Amino acid sequence: MEMLRAGLTKDQILAQTGMVVGVRDANFTVNEGEIFVLMGLSGSGKSTLIRLLNRLVEPTHGQVLLGGQDVAAMSKKALIELRRKDLAMVFQSFALLPHLSVLQNTAFGLEVAGVERKARELHAMEVLDQVGLRSFAHQMPAALSGGMQQRVGLARALAVDPSLMLMDEAFSALDPLKRTEMQELLLQLQKEQQRTIVFVSHDLDEAFHIGNRIAIMEGGRIVQIGTPDEILRNPSDAYVRAFFKGVDVKKYLLAQDVARSDEVLRIQPTADARTDMAEAVARLRQSGQSHAFVVGDDGRWQGGVSLDGLMRGLDSGSTSLQSLYLEGIAPVSASLSLNALIGRIVQQPVPLPVLDAQQRYLGAVTQTVLLKKMVDLDLQESRDE
Ligand SMILES: Nc1ncnc2c1ncn2[C@@H]1O[C@H](COP(=O)(O)OP(=O)(O)O)[C@@H](O)[C@H]1O
Ligand SMILES: [Mg+2]
Repeated sequence: MEMLRAGLTKDQILAQTGMVVGVRDANFTVNEGEIFVLMGLSGSGKSTLIRLLNRLVEPTHGQVLLGGQDVAAMSKKALIELRRKDLAMVFQSFALLPHLSVLQNTAFGLEVAGVERKARELHAMEVLDQVGLRSFAHQMPAALSGGMQQRVGLARALAVDPSLMLMDEAFSALDPLKRTEMQELLLQLQKEQQRTIVFVSHDLDEAFHIGNRIAIMEGGRIVQIGTPDEILRNPSDAYVRAFFKGVDVKKYLLAQDVARSDEVLRIQPTADARTDMAEAVARLRQSGQSHAFVVGDDGRWQGGVSLDGLMRGLDSGSTSLQSLYLEGIAPVSASLSLNALIGRIVQQPVPLPVLDAQQRYLGAVTQTVLLKKMVDLDLQESRDE
């Protein structure tokens, strides 16, 4: 620790002492119910860091607070209790017990925690059902494919209902198809159960797909923490950007990440529709915009109108904004991918309102907005070349 504080590098410390600096200066908070991904090249300290959380690696320094308790400082006895009841780990190598059936493997954590047989097997069956393995309960692990074995690994962890789940490259040993399948399973379970998960991966594609937030590690340190969008928008350095190579980042950006509130005029309707129309026409002319969105007091999107439509409405004596709503302007969901959004705009080049799950208006996506975003992404890439 003194040598680190004195500014010596990992290599110098190794040469002088024979000791490896596994992780240093790692400060982060994992929020309840999120999947927090540790990502970095091999040797960057991911496994060491995740193992510090359940003290499979003893920390030399620092704290690991779990629900206010310091895991790094607790007694062996308290640690064993915590590992039994509150922490579960899923390993890259599956680590199933070969002489136990799928059901017994799944129930293993409960057995160790002292749950009696009937109750633990009943619960293990439920969890096997969730991971799609109910009918394999009485098989032995060796009879299952890698993907299925890892489902058992996942089931065993879920069965103890841990408040924190640790997954170290849990899907890395699987072929790409099975790997995607497991990611989908995890996301689906996450929708239903909102577990707190720390997930290690060396793969940006995987990290962006499943991570709510990602910490990127290099040489034992965390170099950046953020949501996928924050990291894409603002990678902290060339090391982080290097992970983007060969990855279609547009896949990970969502409508909510690109929607803008200043691109399309927003009309809040009053009791006097004629005045609303006249005002909107004046403001659209002033700003040079072609469309406006009508958004109610409650923040909900009501419809889209065009400058032409508004003028025709005024001419023809129309007294309702609603009669001017354009059918061609259909809202899109906040979670639509940028790729899908591009498809929509290419088909029909009108501004699109982006709505959240409660139908509230978040902002608009237009051709201009998309082009700007894509130029930004390209600029980022060319900076590194
Ligand atoms: N048991 C160990 N003894 C000595 N050095 C280790 C041990 N485990 C890991 N290391 C070293 O610690 C560093 C971080 O390794 P690790 O946490 O396994 O990285 P990652 O999981 O990101 O590949 C590496 O330099 C590795 O060689
Ligand atoms: Mg590792």
